[in-house]
Amino acid sequence: MALYSEKVMDHFHNPRNVGVIENADGVGEVGNAKCGDIMKIYLKIENNIIVDVKFETFGCGSAIASSSMATELIKGKPVSEALTLTNKAVAEALDGLPAHKLHCSVLAEEAIKKALQNYYEKNGIEYDETQFPNHTACHGCDC
Ligand code: FES
Repeated sequence: MALYSEKVMDHFHNPRNVGVIENADGVGEVGNAKCGDIMKIYLKIENNIIVDVKFETFGCGSAIASSSMATELIKGKPVSEALTLTNKAVAEALDGLPAHKLHCSVLAEEAIKKALQNYYEKNGIEYDETQFPNHTACHGCDC
């Protein structure tokens, strides 16, 4: 079996939603301390719906494919739904990632959560802090 699924290769070679949103309503940046990869997510939110999302990822192919898929999964969705997106769902939507690359999808989940947290803070919306991970934690990157 090939190391990467066709979907991973597709999203790596033709990533969706690459770029920057000027005046974004929420921005989240996370990095993996061990491999040094960085992911930044920009959200445009209207009436609690994510009407646009863009990303910039400086990292491995799996991180790029994960960002691309994650943005596709939350585009057009309510904020509450985007908050429940897990790295597992991103990896599943990509038809799987090799075990040693699962942490790359964690970066996507965290970047989205951080952007949503930023949106809440910018707009003075109260939120439950326990819904958000500690972004300084390392997620077992073995690269
Ligand atoms: Fe570090 Fe993929 S995010 S190797």
